[in-house]
Amino acid sequence: MSRAAITIRRMEPGDLPEVERIQTSSPEASQWKPEDYLHYESIVAELAGRIAGFAVARRLPPDEIEILNVATGPSSRRQGVGKALLRELLNLHEGVLFLEVRESNSAARALYEAAGFREAGRRKNYYAKAGIPAGLREDAVVMKLQK
Ligand SMILES: CC(C)(COP(=O)(O)OP(=O)(O)OC[C@H]1O[C@@H](n2cnc3c(N)ncnc32)[C@H](O)[C@@H]1OP(=O)(O)O)[C@@H](O)C(=O)NCCC(=O)NCCS
Repeated sequence: MSRAAITIRRMEPGDLPEVERIQTSSPEASQWKPEDYLHYESIVAELAGRIAGFAVARRLPPDEIEILNVATGPSSRRQGVGKALLRELLNLHEGVLFLEVRESNSAARALYEAAGFREAGRRKNYYAKAGIPAGLREDAVVMKLQK
């Protein structure tokens, strides 16, 4: 079966309630105040006329881009939304792109690896780990792509 068409566009103020809903239902994603996304390079993906996912990046002059967040709503996953968001960020930017991801987040790591990102380092015990007693933490994997 062919996949439904995905449209990517800039995030607008009216998108924030839906962005917040997706973020809240994606605990592995960074949990920002949605309004703050409007200060960065933020995009949304529409699938069948509804916002299905979003991604946020910031430019660090002269030539670095940090991907701050990517999330697809749980009911829209594995339909190419994350890939389309990432492809758009890669189209928009030249230089070095990097991001941090939880070691345990195998879905996101697979998405980034499929897009060409490679592990560039680790931040030890960087994230609190959900469901694990206080004090136990997990590593952040730093991933990088040179365009
Ligand atoms: C990670 C996430 C954004 C992927 O979004 P998605 O829209 O489902 O991704 P896509 O459908 O575009 O998948 C693209 C590729 O990524 C990989 N991938 C995505 N989800 C995967 C999973 N659960 N397991 C293994 N590989 C996965 C696959 O290679 C996939 O290609 P395929 O479907 O042709 O096999 C989504 O699972 C999500 O929102 N997770 C919670 C938030 C999060 O972890 N954000 C990242 C913070 S760093």
